[in-house]
Amino acid sequence: RIQSKMEMASKMKDEDKLYKYEGIIYSSIMSPVENLEALKGMDAREDDKMLVAYPKCGFNWMVAVVRKIMSASTGKKVVNDMPPLIEFFSPEIQKTLVQMPSPRFLGTHLHPDNIPASFTAKKVKMVVIFRNPKDTVVSFFHFMNKNPVLPSAEPWDKFFSDFMTGQVPWGSYFDHALAWEKLMDDPNVKIMTYEEMKENLPEGVRMIAEFYGFPLTEEQIKTIAEESTFNAMKESSQSSHGNLGNVFFRKGEVGDWKNHFSEAQSKQMDEEFQKKLGGTKLGAKMKY
Ligand code: A3P
Repeated sequence: RIQSKMEMASKMKDEDKLYKYEGIIYSSIMSPVENLEALKGMDAREDDKMLVAYPKCGFNWMVAVVRKIMSASTGKKVVNDMPPLIEFFSPEIQKTLVQMPSPRFLGTHLHPDNIPASFTAKKVKMVVIFRNPKDTVVSFFHFMNKNPVLPSAEPWDKFFSDFMTGQVPWGSYFDHALAWEKLMDDPNVKIMTYEEMKENLPEGVRMIAEFYGFPLTEEQIKTIAEESTFNAMKESSQSSHGNLGNVFFRKGEVGDWKNHFSEAQSKQMDEEFQKKLGGTKLGAKMKY
């Protein structure tokens, strides 16, 4: 499937690689309009496990962590392939999800208001990953430039301003953050940050496992954390992400923004963060 998407991308002009749906930019190849339309009727199950992240906040990292947690807890083999993003599923594939055994592990980059309504109605447990917006925009910039299904993001200054106004795939970082801020106290939502996972991965693994209801031993937590470091994942990326390994596993650090931002851009982001998320629970959690 990935191969055919790459072929499609190689024949497409950059300006056709994105389109707008209900005011938000999406990838024409990965999330065409028929996928998004079909999703509206998607049925969630009470025991689904959902992983949500704005692009480039560490989604693929956590996909690997959750798959390992589920595998350790259920004894089933880890499936080490592309992430289960619901908006990447064609209407035909969406239909096959009803046959998938429970518990299903699904993910999305969608804004919470656009996640199919049945996920909230069924009280599906959602882990949401956020990352400092400065590192997020830098990671996004490189991702756009390296991923053939997306148009080039050059030059950096233009991409930075598009990010600030939300004119990037999956929409505005700040709109996503503000929507999740309202759900911070929802018992079915667990907000985690990239930075806290970097600081203490075993603790992050434990928190996610407990929240989803997969109790693990100390030994299992330790092993999963060891297998999920940036270097370990980069090494196995050829089998998990094929030729896109280098696209998804770039630097894996906190603070790379310092190598890209001008002083004015840093000030602009600080002011925007303060304006939008200053004094909020999510803002405090992010230790911005
Ligand atoms: P960088 O571009 O800053 O390196 P996503 O999976 O949401 O697209 O996020 C991609 C970012 O997560 C990339 O950031 C990538 O390198 C980083 N990443 C992937 N695996 C990681 C890991 N095991 N540890 C830390 N960061 C990781």
